[in-house]
Amino acid sequence: MRVFVTGGTGHSGSYIIPELLAAGHEVTGLARSDTAAAAVSALGAKVRRGDIEDLNRLKQAAADSDGVIHVAHRQDLLISGGMNAVAAAEVPIMLAYGEALAGTGKPLVTAGSIGSPGQRYLGRAATEEDPALPVTDAHKGTLHARNAVETAVIGLAERGVRSSVVRIANIAHSTTDRAGFLVRLVALAKEKGFVGYPGDGANLWNAVHIRDVASLFRLALEKGPAGRYWHAVGDGGIPFREIAEAIGSRLGLPAVSIPVDELMVPGYFGFLANIVTQSYPASNLITRRTLGWEPAQPGLLAGLDNGHYFSAR
Ligand SMILES: NC(=O)c1ccc[n+]([C@@H]2O[C@H](COP(=O)([O-])OP(=O)(O)OC[C@H]3O[C@@H](n4cnc5c(N)ncnc54)[C@H](OP(=O)(O)O)[C@@H]3O)[C@@H](O)[C@H]2O)c1
Repeated sequence: MRVFVTGGTGHSGSYIIPELLAAGHEVTGLARSDTAAAAVSALGAKVRRGDIEDLNRLKQAAADSDGVIHVAHRQDLLISGGMNAVAAAEVPIMLAYGEALAGTGKPLVTAGSIGSPGQRYLGRAATEEDPALPVTDAHKGTLHARNAVETAVIGLAERGVRSSVVRIANIAHSTTDRAGFLVRLVALAKEKGFVGYPGDGANLWNAVHIRDVASLFRLALEKGPAGRYWHAVGDGGIPFREIAEAIGSRLGLPAVSIPVDELMVPGYFGFLANIVTQSYPASNLITRRTLGWEPAQPGLLAGLDNGHYFSAR
């Protein structure tokens, strides 16, 4: 398959491109700079110059391919406009792909969040059959604002696109993770001198190795039915306190409860405050049964000892 990939220089994309090439696909990666072009080329993909802000270029690239994997994202908008701005920029991108691919049955696979079904409203572990929570005024500015992107992608199935969303676990780890949650939690702990966890730390987080994420993107591209969510979750349901304790044991720092309070939690976690207090139990059963995906890489605790996260000690 001739596959167009965006975000090929990023954490997930830099594993997705080699995964596709190893499976015999021909890959073209988007690059917005000379540095990005060199990185995409070094991975073995062809380079297509462009920016995800240029919708016409994205449409042309999608039309020229047999399938699209889109993992580039407008993280730069988070600081100025929060999650609303990210969603406002990303929905038109998905609709542009829709215009290019409508009626073709070609696959479009994009990234979503494991929290999008809103587990606290479900009151149980989320499955792949739970849609992204509709965005209401109450969700503006929260992580759920980006649910509009997932909903737009799933909606393209009705227009003849084999679209799907890979919901990625909270923590995606590897030896090349530069800006994920684990990196941020370790940095916060070093800065504060202890490892914080919210309240009793019983809220559940999940994790996945980024190489397993890459294999799931490939499987969804190759054989995923249209309009489906997939759960890229390796370790499901790890109490946040255990993650904090594991980080603490490696840094030689205590794990300390942060009272769940409107001053204390943001005081420690900053802009991560409303994310770290949530619980995200999620199943991956439908993904494994439907696509034959099996997470094969080390789990979170082994991942912590991969020599990357604590190499500076
Ligand atoms: N636990 C997780 O990590 C997690 C959980 C849920 C969802 N996700 C989602 O998964 C997706 C992939 O995340 P990631 O961690 O792999 O991303 P990442 O490492 O932050 O990489 C971002 C990529 O987007 C590209 N990009 C940004 N702005 C661009 C623009 N204007 N034009 C072209 N390319 C642009 C970057 O290219 P340059 O090299 O040119 O900057 C880079 O390749 C994102 O949508 C993210 O929200 C991740």
